[in-house]
Amino acid sequence: MDINQMQTILQSNLKPNRYAHCLGVMDTAIILAKRFGVDEEQAAIAGLLHDCAREFATEDLIAECEKRHLYITDIDRQLPILMHAPLGTAIAKEKYDVHDTAILKAIASHTVGGANMSKLDKIVYLADMIEPHRKFEGLDKLRKQAMTQDLDTVMISAFDQSILFIMRKGHTIHPYTVAARNEILLQREL
Ligand SMILES: [Fe+2]
Ligand SMILES: [Fe+2]
Repeated sequence: MDINQMQTILQSNLKPNRYAHCLGVMDTAIILAKRFGVDEEQAAIAGLLHDCAREFATEDLIAECEKRHLYITDIDRQLPILMHAPLGTAIAKEKYDVHDTAILKAIASHTVGGANMSKLDKIVYLADMIEPHRKFEGLDKLRKQAMTQDLDTVMISAFDQSILFIMRKGHTIHPYTVAARNEILLQREL
């Protein structure tokens, strides 16, 4: 299946604003792929399809995950929307015929991150945060960093923003996000 066919199917399954977001993530992922030396086609497909499981209502996500025997943490059960990322890998395979494990892994880790993130995983995570339709405090700084600083420095900023946002809402911090942030910091000399 080529990327144009994927776009047609995705557009018919998502609400217009969600589809526009996916196109924004695809375009941003391509820009970041060029900047950080990542395969542009993998970045484009992962960016486009990262939210493909958003076609399901939030209240159906856990059941759809259980149907596919996906691993669900306590935090995911409390905040089922998080499962649209790992469920997205299953939908990318089933509906969009994607079997490239690098692309599937980037879709799985786009919301909370994870240990051992590849450069592709990182740029899809970032593209999801900074694509043109997004609006949040501190976004201009993050966009600028993404175009000027090294990838891991930008990721630390992105994780910091995300963790602070979740803390302010009083939600639990997903251990995968903490693991991803710690891993980058541990690889660095302080
Ligand atoms: Fe998402
Ligand atoms: Fe997204």
